Amino acid sequence: MVVGDFAVELDTVVIGAGPGGYVAAIRAAQLGQKVAIVEKEYFGGVCLNVGCIPSKALIQAAHTYQLAKHPETFGITTKDVEVDWEKTQDWKQNSVVQKMTSGVEMLLKKNKVEIIRGEAFFSDKDTIRVVNGEEAQTYTFNNAILATGSRPIEIKGFPFGERIIDSTGGLNLPQIPKDLVIIGGGIIGSELGAVYASFGTKVTILEGSKQFIPSFEKDMARLVEKDFKKKGAEIITKAMAKGAEVKGDRVIVTYEHKGEEKTVEADYCMVTVGRRPNTDQANLDLAGIELDEHGKVKVDKQGRTSNPHIFAIGDIVPGAMLAHKASFEGKVAAAAISGRKDEVDYKAMPSVCYTDPELAEAGYTKDSAKEAGLDVKVTKFPFGGNGRAVAMDSYEGFVRIVSTKEDNVIVGAQIAGPGASDLLAELTMAIEAGMNAEDIALTVHPHPTLTEAIMDCAEAVLGEPIHM
Ligand code: FAD
Ligand code: NAI
Repeated sequence: MVVGDFAVELDTVVIGAGPGGYVAAIRAAQLGQKVAIVEKEYFGGVCLNVGCIPSKALIQAAHTYQLAKHPETFGITTKDVEVDWEKTQDWKQNSVVQKMTSGVEMLLKKNKVEIIRGEAFFSDKDTIRVVNGEEAQTYTFNNAILATGSRPIEIKGFPFGERIIDSTGGLNLPQIPKDLVIIGGGIIGSELGAVYASFGTKVTILEGSKQFIPSFEKDMARLVEKDFKKKGAEIITKAMAKGAEVKGDRVIVTYEHKGEEKTVEADYCMVTVGRRPNTDQANLDLAGIELDEHGKVKVDKQGRTSNPHIFAIGDIVPGAMLAHKASFEGKVAAAAISGRKDEVDYKAMPSVCYTDPELAEAGYTKDSAKEAGLDVKVTKFPFGGNGRAVAMDSYEGFVRIVSTKEDNVIVGAQIAGPGASDLLAELTMAIEAGMNAEDIALTVHPHPTLTEAIMDCAEAVLGEPIHM
């Protein structure tokens, strides 16, 4: 790195190398911009290092363990199934995370993106200072894309430490805990809760609102709740966490439930009550970047902030905090800098909860469609009518299509069941492309596959169901 007080000129600078930033940098370079990316901690951001990827590795390990432990349905008996947690963690970290993050650095280099290591701070509307240990360098830029991501919310009474942990702590526990209390039964609480419940931990989830996994519809969340119960976990809704006390290697958590104060204790307490945008650390005000009332950056449909040369993407802008949303916004911002007219459109933004069963949705639900003034009907097809799901002994759940009453245009979809995350892609495309149920019903789906449940559901929308 060049060290000094003189400013180095950059064309497009991207700040943050998560799924928003690294994708934006590569696309900007593909479109002919001279790009530099500044990263203070890790390539791939939260998603690849302490989010999407390591959590899915542990979820896969947990599934494998469950399957090995309970294969009786298939006429198979196993003995002495054990988990070597150190090896599981080593595989997750050194085979999965390491492989993916080094791939990001390689892709950046291949696309001739200059890599600058350090933390960026704005000095004014077109200048940043990058600090790396004892060294610092000033850069001016023509355009910037801000992609600084988010971090876990720490709540009063639950100071993070060795026993009171955030999601990163939850991914890296040194051993499988005997018991675990989770504050927040949202996406992370349910995904990591399912991992440890599968490995035999006694999991207790304290969820403040009246529904477990409140971002998905009740009938979907209920299926996951049933699976948690089967694994011996306890889910307590309307439970507001009040405080935690660490006593030796135990944590005692106090919470309020139905007007009463109660306690529960465990080896660890993991707090997963949402994430806050990293918009308070890089002097955004000096660059003239305005925030909304939630501390997120105000942007237009191309990601342009109140400073027209600076774009913002990912967890720091309004909307869901999802990796694919961050990448999508990154591509739009890179195109906008190149003078293209691309704009974000969230009508088919997918969202998945990787529990057992998986929950996946895109577009409108019945309620949100009604709120938007659409005249819709909902049609549900159960996985019990799908041969492949039955042969997999995994047929809890359903495919649901939300379509317009007038012409069967697909405007929303929810899937709870085996492979829901992958299956959703077909319906996401249908929503994005404005397809109707007939388009899907007339497409031949291979047999026997889980995808036939989507075709069956589309036929049911048309009033011609075969397997229902
Ligand atoms: P980040 O990934 O947070 O990256 C921001 C980067 O900016 C970081 O590398 C940071 O070091 C760097 N940075 C910050 N400030 C500066 C600065 N001033 N200077 C230089 N660098 C800086 N989403 C999904 O879609 N699917 C999932 O399955 C999923 N699972 C998840 C599981 C967990 C446990 C967690 C915590 C999150 C999960 N997410 C998932 C959410 C997903 O990780 C985020 O939505 C995504 O990472 C956001 O991308 P981003 O580029 O906006 O920010
Ligand atoms: P979340 O918003 O999904 O869930 C937080 C939960 O905590 C909510 O249900 C809320 O009601 C509850 N809560 C808040 N305060 C509480 C309190 N004091 N006591 C008890 N409960 C309380 O947030 P989470 O799980 O931390 O995840 C953050 C974000 O990360 C998600 O919203 C999602 O955008 C992203 N993510 C996405 C994943 C995916 O796509 N599969 C996986 C993991 C995270």
